[in-house]
Amino acid sequence: MNDLVIHNARLYPMSDGIEPSAANQIAVLDGKISEIADQGQNALLAAKEYYDAKGACVLPGLIDCHTHIVYSGQRAHEHAMRISGANYADIHAAGGGIHASVDAIRNSSIDELIKESLPRIKNLQTEGVTTLEIKSGYGLDIDNEIKMLQAIRQISNKTALNVVSTFLGAHTIPKDSTEEEYLNDIINNMLPKIASENLADAVDIYVEHLAFSKDSMQQLFTAAKKYNLKTRVHAEQLSNQHAAALASELGALSADHLEYLDEAGAKAMAKANTVAVLLPSAFYFLQETKKPPIDLLRKHNVKMAVSTDTNPGTSPIPSILIALHLSVHLFNLDPKEALLGVTLNAAKALGLEALCGSLEIGKQADITLWEIPSPELLCYQLGGIKPKMVWHKGKMTSP
Ligand code: NIG
Ligand code: FE
Repeated sequence: MNDLVIHNARLYPMSDGIEPSAANQIAVLDGKISEIADQGQNALLAAKEYYDAKGACVLPGLIDCHTHIVYSGQRAHEHAMRISGANYADIHAAGGGIHASVDAIRNSSIDELIKESLPRIKNLQTEGVTTLEIKSGYGLDIDNEIKMLQAIRQISNKTALNVVSTFLGAHTIPKDSTEEEYLNDIINNMLPKIASENLADAVDIYVEHLAFSKDSMQQLFTAAKKYNLKTRVHAEQLSNQHAAALASELGALSADHLEYLDEAGAKAMAKANTVAVLLPSAFYFLQETKKPPIDLLRKHNVKMAVSTDTNPGTSPIPSILIALHLSVHLFNLDPKEALLGVTLNAAKALGLEALCGSLEIGKQADITLWEIPSPELLCYQLGGIKPKMVWHKGKMTSP
């Protein structure tokens, strides 16, 4: 007997494109999707509990696959500086940018970090997010990176979400260190401890002229493999460092940002099945003009995900629905591509496609219900839409 059956639903499984399913009921047993069926005439699946969707759209829970949502303080003054003409690299070079958030993290306790971050996370949950990736990267030393990762693991226990923890110690080079010294510290001291305490699921690195070289990425990824950690990269955001191609060859799950990606990079990503994670909210907030090469990604069949990149410097925008809208409006994604980008392709970017990202039998019952005429409306309307219901592992969570 199923625990729950949602019936009279317009099901959009997102398992193979975004066409609606012919079926209109979905059953849950032990937190997983157990049956998907056509209701026919009075042929309701057996269940202990029923939810009548009354014709609403039923989608998988949404996935935000790239965030720095655990942080302390804010950087509104940098926003004002950029509006008056300074750029991101100038602010970083003057000791602001990521460094400013590092100072704030080092002065916060784990409890303070969690308290500050939870309202942002809650906002994503009210929009139907059921899986969330969170990166460290504002600690930049072993104690503070571990503090961030412990906060992320605790958030995982406190919220009805799948939380993926990513170690981004290689976010930038600390002010008092060289690239080589700091990379050695990451590889020889931080990684072994983080792996032995199971504090991270993946490792990320920011490859850019103001952060790390792709040679450092290769060393980091080689070390991460020894601990069975997945790998991802911030690549070609401000310039073409050819990091996405090398990361793909090294088996990275995703390359993210990609404004300056070239065709060789897109081909390498396609060959390795590396997901392109697009971050239109950061593009918008930085008033960038160079867009990621969506045509090349399409031409080579690279899977595209869309995420918020929520962070205090380049995307203080904890909204997956805004990111979804901006991916269509600024990057010209087709609404169907954008919707796959916050569901199945986002699951692929995290290596979680066997668990979530689509409504398929055997997957976790992460389900959202929207009283809208079709899912494309989520890409069209900016603001004012929330799911009516959200289920995580089959349990109703307050949307
Ligand atoms: O994804 N690109 C590097 N990292 C972040 C920004 C971090 C910050 O400025 O605090 C990003 O945009
Ligand atoms: Fe980022």
